Amino acid sequence: MAHADQTAQGGHGRHQHGGHGDGLREMLDLDAEVGAAELARFTARIAALAGDHPVRDVVDLGAGTGSGTFALLRQFSEAIVTAVDTSGEMLGHLSGSARQHGFDSRVRPIRADLDERWPATGPADLVWAASSMHHLADPDRVLRDIHATLRPAGRLAMIEMESMPHFLPDDIGIGAPGLEDRCDVLMAEARAEHLPHMGSDWTARLTMTGFKIQESGDLVVDLPAPVPDAAARYAYATLQRLRAGLADRLTAEDRDTLDVLLADDGPHALRNRADLTVRSTRSFWIATPA
Ligand SMILES: C[S@@+](CC[C@H](N)C(=O)[O-])C[C@H]1O[C@@H](n2cnc3c(N)ncnc32)[C@H](O)[C@@H]1O
Repeated sequence: MAHADQTAQGGHGRHQHGGHGDGLREMLDLDAEVGAAELARFTARIAALAGDHPVRDVVDLGAGTGSGTFALLRQFSEAIVTAVDTSGEMLGHLSGSARQHGFDSRVRPIRADLDERWPATGPADLVWAASSMHHLADPDRVLRDIHATLRPAGRLAMIEMESMPHFLPDDIGIGAPGLEDRCDVLMAEARAEHLPHMGSDWTARLTMTGFKIQESGDLVVDLPAPVPDAAARYAYATLQRLRAGLADRLTAEDRDTLDVLLADDGPHALRNRADLTVRSTRSFWIATPA
């Protein structure tokens, strides 16, 4: 469940179908598939903390293609999830997946820009915000709105990620070792320009808003080689987005190396490599409106 965001949009390779948004949606879906077990453990932990308090009204902020929405619907069998996103394309994709999985009666999509105002969600037992808070212009205002929306026994579950997942060994046999580490540095530079809240001190921000942090820590996905097919496609989608999003920042050598990795064929191409792994870490917070 790792994510690229707008700074890494773009690319027109074979997994890209008709535009930048498609690439992001495909990557979010693959991220959800690859991280499904870790996500299920996390939602089970939230259920354990909720104890006897029913979790019926759930709000997923910046729901994207619905990785959180569907994990929550599976965990909380009585829940209705209000999926909020500013992107009609994301919500359309989410609604299609909900129909496909028989969840449509339990999903309420709301198209809203959280930077403008809090949408009409009604009171919530659980608010979920995964890789979305750093997109907002004024996350503190939205944290206050979440606080006001939660029932007294409710919870906020928040996930943030600082860097893209890694898939390759340090030395991949072409180019200079450490390609993904260099991409991380460039991505951090790009994000600092466009997403100033990324990597901020969320513990402090939550506490300042009046939340009590119940648990925090890391969600780790660590898949050894050989990885399943979805993980290999996830690696392809991610590196393709890095190649497109960082085109102007990469050195010529690293651009060439990424092109070799993304090529349809050749001994170093991702599709022919047996050494792919998945390593991703993201931070989580489970908080109550103290
Ligand atoms: C990186 S994606 C995360 C999607 C999903 N939560 C997940 O974990 O896969 C961020 C999502 O936040 C949405 N978003 C960004 N800014 C927003 C805003 N101001 N209001 C509502 N949604 C927003 C984007 O459209 C995108 O779907």
